[in-house]
Amino acid sequence: MNTMKRVGLIGAGTIGRTILKELQSLPGVEIAFVLVRDPSAHADLGLPEGCVIADEAVALERGADLVVEAAMADTVQRLAPDFLRHGDFCGFSSTALADRATEDAVREAALTHGRRFYVPHGAVLGLDGLGDGQGLIDSVTITTTKSGKSLGIDPDTEGAIFDGPTRDACHRFPRNVNVHAAIALAGLGFDRTISRIVAVPGLVDMKHRIEVTGQGLAWDLGITSRSLGGVTGAYTPRSAAGTVRRILGGAGVVVA
Ligand SMILES: NC(=O)c1ccc[n+]([C@@H]2O[C@H](COP(=O)([O-])OP(=O)(O)OC[C@H]3O[C@@H](n4cnc5c(N)ncnc54)[C@H](O)[C@@H]3O)[C@@H](O)[C@H]2O)c1
Repeated sequence: MNTMKRVGLIGAGTIGRTILKELQSLPGVEIAFVLVRDPSAHADLGLPEGCVIADEAVALERGADLVVEAAMADTVQRLAPDFLRHGDFCGFSSTALADRATEDAVREAALTHGRRFYVPHGAVLGLDGLGDGQGLIDSVTITTTKSGKSLGIDPDTEGAIFDGPTRDACHRFPRNVNVHAAIALAGLGFDRTISRIVAVPGLVDMKHRIEVTGQGLAWDLGITSRSLGGVTGAYTPRSAAGTVRRILGGAGVVVA
């Protein structure tokens, strides 16, 4: 790493804590802040006085080179355009961009200030392929199968509970379809990407199936992961750490 990078983190839950450990292991990275709701409940993070904060205005003033969000979609909606004035932003709550005003504000801020808004691949794979296939791809459908409990609805619910544009899925299940939002942002957008959500009572795994058709191509990706208890699966924190490491760069062989 060539220069010192100051990185801010929003949220210190399952994903945020894994990212924090990754950041602390990287040379040339300084933690600018960790923004949480209640700093007194985060003494176990072991960070210096004044690093763990609850005041969003103070976080903005720190002028971080990169801010990583692992909290809730409303924090991306409220804060990403302002943080993009000073540095790059990586948002794990991708459903935030299904709100047209938020997507417009984020795109405008990034372009105006010459910054990047990173959409992580999170729980699924293949976003790079979707992006590179622009112009060839005709249809993208993502089907998520989870228990009703994991979806935050009646645990006994069984069968298809949603089939329609990803934009509507994001509005109805903002905590559960971040991967649908990421797939939409990588490929055909929120209105042309189709989301399906299926509930299976007692299902311990979370399954995502991504079906893509296009000129001279047909892809069918199946991804299964075990829930860590909340909305996040076993693989996602590792995926999140890898994304942040790639964003921050460094010397070596790079998969592109
Ligand atoms: N892109 C993906 O593939 C993917 C996969 C899993 C989860 N997610 C999303 O990533 C986010 C984090 O997931 P997680 O499993 O770490 O969740 P988590 O519930 O374990 O942690 C979220 C943390 O953010 C904090 N928080 C909430 N609102 C806040 C605010 N206004 N300011 C500061 N902190 C706030 C909460 O107190 C909590 O500690 C969620 O939005 C989740 O839906 C994305």
